[in-house]
Amino acid sequence: MESFPSIRMRRNRNNDWSRRLVAENRLSADDFIWPVFVREQPGEEEIVSLPGQLRVGLDRLIEHVGQAVELGIPAVALFPVIDPEKKDADGSEATNPDNLICRAARELKRAFPELGLIGDVALDPYTTHGQDGILRNGYVVNDESVSRLSEQAIILAEAGFDVVAPSDMMDGRIGAIRSALEEKELVNTRILSYAVKYASGFYGPFRQALGNVLSGDKKSYQMDSANSDEALREVALDLNEGADMVMVKPGLPYLDVIHRVKSEFKVPTFAYQVSGEYSMLMAAIQNGWLDANVVIEESLMSFKRAGCDGILTYFALDMARRLRDGESQNI
Ligand code: PBG
Repeated sequence: MESFPSIRMRRNRNNDWSRRLVAENRLSADDFIWPVFVREQPGEEEIVSLPGQLRVGLDRLIEHVGQAVELGIPAVALFPVIDPEKKDADGSEATNPDNLICRAARELKRAFPELGLIGDVALDPYTTHGQDGILRNGYVVNDESVSRLSEQAIILAEAGFDVVAPSDMMDGRIGAIRSALEEKELVNTRILSYAVKYASGFYGPFRQALGNVLSGDKKSYQMDSANSDEALREVALDLNEGADMVMVKPGLPYLDVIHRVKSEFKVPTFAYQVSGEYSMLMAAIQNGWLDANVVIEESLMSFKRAGCDGILTYFALDMARRLRDGESQNI
């Protein structure tokens, strides 16, 4: 048995050099995926619910995303802010090959061929009701939604997205998307499945960023926060159907789930530190109640400790800059 005083845990903590030497986890720019909001109008505006994050027009997109490229961030996840007059009940704009997100992808691929582009597969930016699929008599129908989502995945891949990321939580969509991609010979398009996505209150600021007005809730398809065995079944199914990477979302309130998923499957596992997690920290930072120099890194490190290979985070640029400038608490 280890015992005091032959063991003093504080010895290794005594100096910066020994803390660095025994650190079990390390953050780097390679760990981050930055979510980026694109809008139809030129120019840019700050998103009130996500302080420091912008909605940018296509005229500003290259410069905006260029910041991530310069910092060595491997990939960005694009989200479209769709004009209300382009939304309808079935989200038809989602499968228009010349829609905003496809135009954005084409421009980014041209400017940054080496940057990973991740496109969200779901109808909510395009539907008047804000649901991720097709609504029939107040219910989001599964199979019909899956065929629309497969179509959407194909136009995203054809526009240049390297990764399609279904965030809709319909059953069977990974398999359907995988066979649609194979059929089009898009054999290297990766699927990052939002395999474990909870019906969470932490998406509020994101929905505001997109101008989504959600009627009802998403509990008939997103998971119940009470469950984690169910998360393992979701991941097993998505891997079987052809997912290359899986995601748990939100992040901080579900670190236990991330840990279970990584321990069980040992596959590329991501977490989405969602909008509400970011806004919570930013609100406290802006009030002077929390210190940005400490809590941003501490929150991101928790994902590494839990077993994540990467993190979708609105702090991506900020943290990558801190790491580059040697301001990390861990350096
Ligand atoms: C929609 C989608 C959501 C997020 C990513 N894709 C919201 C939702 O399911 O209502 C949330 C991201 C965030 O909160 O940062 N398919």
